[in-house]
Parts: sequence; C-alpha cells; structure tokens
Amino acid sequence: MTETFRSMVRETRLGSDDFIFPLFVVPGTNVKKEISSMPGVYQMSVDNIVRECAEVRSLGIPAVLLFGIPPAKDEVGSGAYDKHGVVQSALRAVKKEVPDLALVTDVCLCEYTSNGHCGIVRGNEIVNDESVELLVREATSHAEAGADMVAPSDMFDGRVGAIRRALDAGGFPNLPIMSYAAKYASGFYGPFREAAESTPKFGDRRSHQMDPANTDEALREVAQDIAEGADIVMVKPALPYLDVLFRVKETFGMPTAAYNVSGEYSMVKAAASMGWVDGERVMMEMLTGIKRAGADMILTYFAKDAARYLEKHR
Ligand code: PBG
Repeated sequence: MTETFRSMVRETRLGSDDFIFPLFVVPGTNVKKEISSMPGVYQMSVDNIVRECAEVRSLGIPAVLLFGIPPAKDEVGSGAYDKHGVVQSALRAVKKEVPDLALVTDVCLCEYTSNGHCGIVRGNEIVNDESVELLVREATSHAEAGADMVAPSDMFDGRVGAIRRALDAGGFPNLPIMSYAAKYASGFYGPFREAAESTPKFGDRRSHQMDPANTDEALREVAQDIAEGADIVMVKPALPYLDVLFRVKETFGMPTAAYNVSGEYSMVKAAASMGWVDGERVMMEMLTGIKRAGADMILTYFAKDAARYLEKHR
C-alpha cells in the first residue's frame, strides 16, 4: 500500500497536457531528416509536419512550437514574413488537418538571416528598432496564416509592445503572446543551432541575451514584458535556471513557461545511450523538477517520450 499513499500525497503531477513540442519545418516534400545531435528530433517538410502533428495530438499533447528553416536566407530575413514561407504554409496545412492542436510560432529572424543573427546587422551591431519592425511583420504574418499564439524569442527591447499593438490593429486583439522573457546567453542552445541552421556567422548573442549570473535582471526583463502585454512569460533554459523560474512565478503569479532546451535534451540522450543514466527516469525527474519549480507549461523535445511514459504508467 505504500505506493498508494505515496501517490495520494504527491504534490506535483505531470500530464501530457503540460507540454509544448517544438518542430522544425523545412522546404520540400517528404523530407524527414534527423538532427544528429538530437536523436528523435527531425527537420520535416510540411506534409510530414502534418502527420507528426496528428500523432502529437493523439498523445494528448495540446500544442506545438513551430520553427522554420527557409529555402534561402538573406540579410533582412525575408523568409520570416513571406506569406508562402515554411511556417506560414505549415500553419495553414496543420490548421486544416489537425484543427484542435494549438499552434505557437517562434518569432525570430536568426533562422532566416544569412548571418545567423536575430535581427538586422549594421557594422558589428544588431540594430534594435529596425529589427523589431521586421519581427512585427513576422508575427502578423503568422497570425494571418493561423497561429494561435506567437512567441518572440529574440530579446530585443520593445518587441512585445510593438507586436501587441500590431496584432490589435490587425484584427487579432485576442491572440496571446508568449514572450521569451528571461532568456540567457547559454551554451545549452548548441544542438538547436544545428536543427535550426541558425549559428551566428560572427560574434554571439550576448548583446541581447542575459548573463547566466543574474537573477534580479531577469525579474526586470519579465516585468517589462508583462507591462508591454505578454500573456505568458518564459524562462529559458530550464534546468540551470530553476531558481529564476521559481522567483518569476512567485513574484508575478503569471502563466509561466519553461523551455527545456536542446542541450538539456541531448545530454540525457547521450548519457542514456552510453548506459550512464536511465534515460526515462532522468527525463521524468527533470520534467517534474521544472514543473515543481513553477512552470505551468514546458516546451520540451521530450514531450512525445514523456507522454508515452505517462500513458504506460497510468
Ligand atoms: C531563437 C531561439 C533559440 C532557441 C529557441 N529560439 C536559439 C538561440 O537563441 O540561439 C533555442 C532552443 C533550444 O536550444 O532548444 N530563434
């Protein structure tokens, strides 16, 4: 009976409806290419994305986060706000075939610019305000193609407010914004940059992403995004920043998301494949820890694995 009572007093319960599963859309048809540093995660063309979304929904996962890798990149990231861009096409196709899956889009330029930066670069600097204008166009274009929520991930100043105003004016006053509010300059994004083909050609993202040593600053960033109209605030990465997540939830009481990023996923997969840790056990412990620290929802590449695990152990 011990396990029965243990279960009755359990404080934190994970469910498949806690997860958002990230997906990488590429041009073409019938493309399904595994990311070498992220076993089980694929770049997929729209037809396969639709199939994947149907499977995700059938596992009880309520939402996906879409990233796009365009057919061509340029200095102004045109593919990001192209009506016929990869993400826009995926949005229309998935909306039609899997209507009850919530579609969140990552709003950023780094996958679309030839230099791999999140905005317009002049000299050696990323220009804030002009970049924000393009992010606004990207978010609007996602909304028009059927996105249920937009998630600006760049960390430029003023982008949440600018996107909010444009959505309100463009006929999308009820479309929520999930802001990557406390986003750290992190080594844990390494494998993602292979998946999204978005490694900066020079420099890094330290001018706009946060110093891992700071927490008070994270609270100020979050407060700013809430003031500008963010509906959900995100902390990213998750594991090395559980204290930040806890403080954000305690301080603001807002719907709070945590991004369990690529490197956190790859580490577990690698260690498990060597037989050094029990992959499933570590995965569930990690996700439980993130929820316990205050996350209302977790963006995670483990979503499908964890949903299957939960189904099996019900
Ligand atoms: C930017 C973006 C990044 C991630 C999500 N959105 C990369 C970055 O900031 O360099 C990382 C996610 C992950 O590592 O899983 N578009």
